[in-house]
Amino acid sequence: MKIKEITEFINNGVTVGEQTCDTYKIGNEENEVKKVAVTMFATVDNIRKMKDWGADFVIVHEPTFYDHFDTKFSEDVVVKEKYKLLEEAGITIYRWHDHPHCDKPDRIFEGEIYYLGLKGDEKPTNWGGSTVLTLDEAMTASEIVKIIEDKLNVRNLRVAGELNKKATKLACCFGTPGGVFDLLRDPEIEIVLTGETIEWMLCEYARDAAALGRNKSLIVMGHIGSERDGMRLLAEKLSKQFPSIETKYFECGEAYNYIR
Ligand SMILES: [Fe+2]
Ligand SMILES: [Fe+2]
Repeated sequence: MKIKEITEFINNGVTVGEQTCDTYKIGNEENEVKKVAVTMFATVDNIRKMKDWGADFVIVHEPTFYDHFDTKFSEDVVVKEKYKLLEEAGITIYRWHDHPHCDKPDRIFEGEIYYLGLKGDEKPTNWGGSTVLTLDEAMTASEIVKIIEDKLNVRNLRVAGELNKKATKLACCFGTPGGVFDLLRDPEIEIVLTGETIEWMLCEYARDAAALGRNKSLIVMGHIGSERDGMRLLAEKLSKQFPSIETKYFECGEAYNYIR
């Protein structure tokens, strides 16, 4: 099987804008594939592990070379070294970012909610990459944080605003999509979940809104913690779809170290 057949399968039926970051970053789509690795980031540690495993194709959600289109810093020393590492590993990388976010449902949202086990009515927002989830069973922000910790193994979540009032209207802005502040300010929305944020703006708004008696909170999960389970679900789907090739999800972990 060729690499491009897998790419065609994961992108099937989804239209993205003309200027998309969903391109091959290195390698050749005509190459034969036996082992597919799926991850959030092709970190250096991950590339080494994938090479040892024998991966020939890697599907990532995020940039490999620190800019949205992976082209801006090609003369940087770290970029050059990383590129060489990938060449030596014989790995082809494809970024799967716009396609999952333009699909219906958003495939990253689908994975997050699937592993969280949250049930409710889903409605995409006017902001690409964000979905409103109306929970069947009301929960507090504190209870949702506990579920995220337990089910997604995310640590060091941050919550600004109300912790203890029951809520049903969640805006799921996984990663860092546009429109998070608009959704947070929407009087209908009680809890916003996001990857990373602007503290002076969004966190302070949530804090003040709660202090003024509104049921409003912002849960910050970390970028990787808020999106990686979408990629985990993709790995599961590929395993089922292509039993003749090996598929493995590689955890890149958080970028931060916590020194206590
Ligand atoms: Fe994303
Ligand atoms: Fe992202």
